[in-house]
Amino acid sequence: MADFSSKVVYQIYPKSFMDSNGDGLGDLRGIIRKLDYLRDLGVDYLWLTPVFVSPQNDNGYDVADYCSIDPRFGTMEDMEELIREGEKRGLGLMLDMVFNHTSTEHEWFQKALAGDEKYQNYYIFKEGTPDKLPTNWQSKFGGPAWEYVPSLGKWYLHLFDVTQADLNWDNPEVRDELKKVIFFWKDKGVKGFRFDVVNLISKPAVFEDDYEGDGRRFYSDGPHVHEYLKELTRDTGIEDMITVGEMSSTTLDNCIRYSAPQEKEMSMCFSFHHLKVDYKDGDKWRLMEPDRMALKKLFEKWQTGMQEGHGWNALFWCNHDQPRVVSRLGDESKYWKESAEMLAASIHLMRGTPYIYQGEEIGMTNAHYTSISQYRDVESLNYYKILLDQGKTEEEALAVLAARSRDNSRTPMQWSGEENAGFSEGRPWLEVTSNYKEINAQAQTEDGESVYSFYKRLVSLRKEKNVISKGSIEFLEKENEDVLAYRRAYEDEELIVLNNLTGKEVTVPAESAWAGYHKLLGNYDGGAEIKEGITLRPFETIALEK
Ligand code: GLC
Repeated sequence: MADFSSKVVYQIYPKSFMDSNGDGLGDLRGIIRKLDYLRDLGVDYLWLTPVFVSPQNDNGYDVADYCSIDPRFGTMEDMEELIREGEKRGLGLMLDMVFNHTSTEHEWFQKALAGDEKYQNYYIFKEGTPDKLPTNWQSKFGGPAWEYVPSLGKWYLHLFDVTQADLNWDNPEVRDELKKVIFFWKDKGVKGFRFDVVNLISKPAVFEDDYEGDGRRFYSDGPHVHEYLKELTRDTGIEDMITVGEMSSTTLDNCIRYSAPQEKEMSMCFSFHHLKVDYKDGDKWRLMEPDRMALKKLFEKWQTGMQEGHGWNALFWCNHDQPRVVSRLGDESKYWKESAEMLAASIHLMRGTPYIYQGEEIGMTNAHYTSISQYRDVESLNYYKILLDQGKTEEEALAVLAARSRDNSRTPMQWSGEENAGFSEGRPWLEVTSNYKEINAQAQTEDGESVYSFYKRLVSLRKEKNVISKGSIEFLEKENEDVLAYRRAYEDEELIVLNNLTGKEVTVPAESAWAGYHKLLGNYDGGAEIKEGITLRPFETIALEK
């Protein structure tokens, strides 16, 4: 397995990145136009969320054909050009493999529906009657995880939307079909893969009701998942390519196994526990102030745990499923720039491979929508109804969506202060966030002090300093809920990273050795004054180098 410690990945949500033909949807030619911008940022890989043929009920995560490009995004020639043009600029393409489920419009599912037993065995069908669900499991998008097909007298499992049917990985034919997909894209010159909810692929032998939860404990990190991933990696020869698994409700022990090099499963894992510290009682749809102590403990657990087990973390705050971090953990009104930069440094200087989600590098914020008609996401629309059914008023339900909706991160990329933020000449499929005149890429690339320039520096520091890419990590100030602090060490190099997570001044005691250290990076002017303590200004980040 190769080493990706000095690499940085940039995630593109094609639908919202750049529209080249004025239809209001981003497309592959739009991405090609922006490759120089991405090269200048200094990133190594571009992960594209799905652009395959799809009815788009879940924005492409409902794939109807893994080896064709959805005409909404362009053509296969456009994809080939994107791969070539990326390569010229040192940018490797990573594609999103949605292998836990297919769209119900996929040919396999259509054949299954038509009665073909071979294809029914590609999915998880259970005989039954319409009055009795096979289990009480819940879909991740709300409602039951089973759908009845009257013509077959069978139920099928869908852990996500009803149009996303779970594949049966216990069937070797399914595994072989999916390997062919990898070969197809590998031959096209793709450099890596992201595997969607890949720790959910192995379902239990017996399906039973869950009296404690929604069923996830039976299929998350399921019985044969490690075996299947080893087989997939081995048989497709992707050991040395960059691969990242999205791990839903996973455990540290499993992530060590998914990502430790000797296991030859994946090069790294996305885990999400640190993004649930503002879920009340673990429920995404109940709001709570972020629990900073819990956040710190989770970073410590996952950073040091993965280090001890030789596992590897993907480092991230943002993606197309998460609200914008500056709105969530920062202060977008009073300390927008400071908090965006502190949050960036706090994870980019950790042990792992950082991911930047489009627009994060310019400090894009949540959408601040005020009407349900502005939302497009299937999960948000489902939960809006569920929240109303639970007795919330429209205003209350909208307040929850404004904080939690996945559309917060899916608004069009803010390229400039021009109409539609320079994203499209047509009407964008999802409304642009209204602050694009102040927050946009054009303004920031021209400004050496911008959030963009700060990200660019973080990317280049990872390539210059072994202590950042290869160093060990140890946490400091563990009892102080306001400051996330850690020490990185590599041979005789050392880095101390202090992040003030709050909008107030905080003083931390300094070790005497630090007096001789110099400030490598910070989001405020001037050196760090180190006496007995260091006073950190609101959302200040400081990296001190030995
Ligand atoms: C992952 C994707 C998300 C999608 C889901 C189902 O969590 O990131 O966008 O809805 O899988 O494929």
